[in-house]
Amino acid sequence: MQPRSRAECIERDRVDSLAAHREQFRLPEDVIYLDGNSLGALTRSAERQVAAVMQEQWGVDLIRSWSENGWLDYPSRLGDRIAPLIGASPGEVLVCDSTSIDLFKIVSAVALQRGKRRKLVTELGNFPTDLYVLRGLARLVPELDVVAVPREELSAAIDHETLLVVLTHVHYRTAEMYDLAAMTAHVHSVGARIVWDLSHSIGALPIDLGLSEGDFAVGCTYKYLNGGPGAPGFLYVRRDLQAALQPVLSGWLGDARPFDFLDDYLPAPGIDRHRCGTPPVLAYAALEGALNVFDGVDVESIRRKSIELSDLFIALVEDLPQAESLHLVSPRDPARRGSHLSFAHADAGAVMQRLIKRGVIGDFRAPDLLRFGLTPLYLRFVDVWDAVQILGEEIGRTFIDKNKLGARHEEGTHRQTGFHVGLVRTD
Ligand SMILES: Cc1ncc(COP(=O)(O)O)c(C=O)c1O
Repeated sequence: MQPRSRAECIERDRVDSLAAHREQFRLPEDVIYLDGNSLGALTRSAERQVAAVMQEQWGVDLIRSWSENGWLDYPSRLGDRIAPLIGASPGEVLVCDSTSIDLFKIVSAVALQRGKRRKLVTELGNFPTDLYVLRGLARLVPELDVVAVPREELSAAIDHETLLVVLTHVHYRTAEMYDLAAMTAHVHSVGARIVWDLSHSIGALPIDLGLSEGDFAVGCTYKYLNGGPGAPGFLYVRRDLQAALQPVLSGWLGDARPFDFLDDYLPAPGIDRHRCGTPPVLAYAALEGALNVFDGVDVESIRRKSIELSDLFIALVEDLPQAESLHLVSPRDPARRGSHLSFAHADAGAVMQRLIKRGVIGDFRAPDLLRFGLTPLYLRFVDVWDAVQILGEEIGRTFIDKNKLGARHEEGTHRQTGFHVGLVRTD
């Protein structure tokens, strides 16, 4: 039963099995943070770990830390720690570089062994980096053909000429989620391979790349994993594909014998060959600390609470007197949705600015989306209640102002998503 009052939300928080995790985060008193899908909140354990690495390791052990404090192993050590969150095994995940660079590393390595297949298929409206990286590579390797199509045309575009498909599991704008296993199976049925961008999935919902035989994946660690601003990305290569995948960005730390400083490159065995250069140790320390909050937490329980928070958010928004000016762009069915919600509103930019001034931090995505991330480890049901009341007040202000100016309602189709929406327009 969904809470229907502020008191019921407080009661729901009291019996929430994840409620105690909030204490592990450092959150300002006067903020309701609904942007953890973009930059996760600071964990106390990240703070402690960065301080320890700086003071006790860098400050005392100095250069000896590369081996004695395991600095050199950070990419694979943290890779093994996040592997269970995506259904991978130890030795299949590496934390390194940024998501954009990791994507280039995977796609370029696959392109090296392309045979006769030339098509790189992706979705129009995918996160820009995913499109740009593919097109950039196609400039370097003109035999490659980037085919970017709307979601409805993807199945047909994936054919026997397809080398690789690159898709984002949970869409950054709408939160619309692919059936990962079904799409992977479809791609395999034509003999192609797939890279999943899991930036908006990891840490928010269960993913099983092992079970669905996913080939490759990349993603961010600064969103639901709370790794910190600019935290390194991760890449996954299924074990049986590792030996044949030769890196193009063949940096010295991806060599099998980096400290022999040889002239000829020999890729390291396994996932380590996808390392490039020196790891940014302090960024790894923050992520290492942040990952402690996932110890002993079952991702299924995160997912359950994420759905409850999101469903409550939608129901409360739709109960607002001003509800007609807001239109849910994310799927209503939680099975087809990630852990954020987007609503179209004619004055979304100004509304979000006012929300942020009042401590309700979400984000605005042009031209007209209000986006709210629901992060179960530190968000309470009462936060959802309060945030929606404030949203109602701010929308009400826009609504009245527009009405004064002679606003009229107009039906239309949301430009980016194709969803049917009603827009408020001033004459
Ligand atoms: C879906 C998706 N892919 C890739 C990226 C790019 O990540 P980075 O800037 O760390 O390379 C982002 C960043 O927000 C993203 O949301």
